[in-house]
Amino acid sequence: MSWALIPLTDEQRQIQQMAREFAQQEIAPHSEAWDRDAHFERSVIDRLGELGFLGMMLPERYDGLGLDTRTYLVALEEIAAVDASVAVAMSVHNSLPTQMLLRWGTDAQKDRFLRPMARGEMLGAFALSEPESGSDAASLRTQATRDANGDWILEGTKAWVTNGNTADVILAMARTDTREERRGPRGIGAFIVTPDAPGFRVGAKEDKMGLRASPTTQLIFDGMRLPADALLGEEGMGFVYAMQSLDNGRLGIAAQAIGIARAALEYAAAYAADRRQFGTPIKEFEGIQFKLADMATRVTASRALLHAAAAAKDRGDPVTQFSSMAKLMASEAAMWVTTQAIQIYGGYGYMKDYPVERLFRDAKVTEIYEGTSEIQRIIIARELYARS
Ligand code: CAA
Repeated sequence: MSWALIPLTDEQRQIQQMAREFAQQEIAPHSEAWDRDAHFERSVIDRLGELGFLGMMLPERYDGLGLDTRTYLVALEEIAAVDASVAVAMSVHNSLPTQMLLRWGTDAQKDRFLRPMARGEMLGAFALSEPESGSDAASLRTQATRDANGDWILEGTKAWVTNGNTADVILAMARTDTREERRGPRGIGAFIVTPDAPGFRVGAKEDKMGLRASPTTQLIFDGMRLPADALLGEEGMGFVYAMQSLDNGRLGIAAQAIGIARAALEYAAAYAADRRQFGTPIKEFEGIQFKLADMATRVTASRALLHAAAAAKDRGDPVTQFSSMAKLMASEAAMWVTTQAIQIYGGYGYMKDYPVERLFRDAKVTEIYEGTSEIQRIIIARELYARS
């Protein structure tokens, strides 16, 4: 099956092959059981670290692979095509906390965290949303105040945190300025939280429709005490850092969605060649061919847009709009393609015995997290006017 419109380099093909073999040999045999049991397998994170997949875009001096964004996304798609739960751990870790630390961390903060993060000894998480602030992220309420010693005291609850109960380092946004005129995005700081902080508690683990092998939890900061140097960068810039990081994160979610969609397409094409009805394989029917053609077109178009967005990022161009476009297109493609895959499988597609059922459940969240499709459309539309 044709893959990338824009050819891959030899190095990208090697990384792709490595990711594919790893996913097929070490993850695929367990994915169904991990999904059924909602089991997060930490040893997979260790292996991702050994392979370098948890520091793909970090410089070599921090034990990273120093690769560009497109190469990272190629590897991520391979993991997602086999297990979207493992892929989201890899995406969040690579795109959000590691990049935030690399970009805005002090030398001491980078030295402490980036090497163990690149090696998979420390898993990262990103905590922006709260029970009452999802799409309207700037309305977050978690409060950060400084005590007489200069320590930070955080009070509040974070919601829907991927890797929440397994992360070793969490980049958490909290309000540092409570004045009424600073209640918007400007009064927010980004904090480096480790689970040993006094007052840190993992809250309820969510019981989700899909991505069941990826733990999503609340985090409770109950008068949580952090040292003064837990603040990342400038005090009032946490929201802007989070938004800039989500420009990266959304590329990762697009790659995850493309992996899910591609897997659904491959399963459906194989099934249609095998399944016979009315005396012939169902792939002989135009009704099935048209579905497969549209599925393949959406997967290929999503990937081409994503890879062009990644190239723009690596050139240093602004990517807020392209990231949102790539995430919007890929996530809606994933939902549509997995729905068609179930239709092609017919009654079997609705059963848990066949893989397309999990892909369908896993696809849905790509239209929701790291900004819903509606938020992506708002960002894309705003950028149209920002540029004119
Ligand atoms: N890059 C740089 N700066 C940015 C930016 C970006 N992409 N987006 C916003 N900013 C800046 C703005 O320029 C502005 O700065 P000034 O005050 O200097 O002008 C400031 O940030 C505030 O921006 P907005 O006025 O646009 O803020 P807003 O309140 O209108 O919100 C929003 C904008 C796009 C709706 C934003 O709230 C948003 O993206 N919401 C969705 C939240 C989201 O994606 N959450 C995902 C959570 S992570 C997750 O899903 C968990 C997981 O683990 C997978």
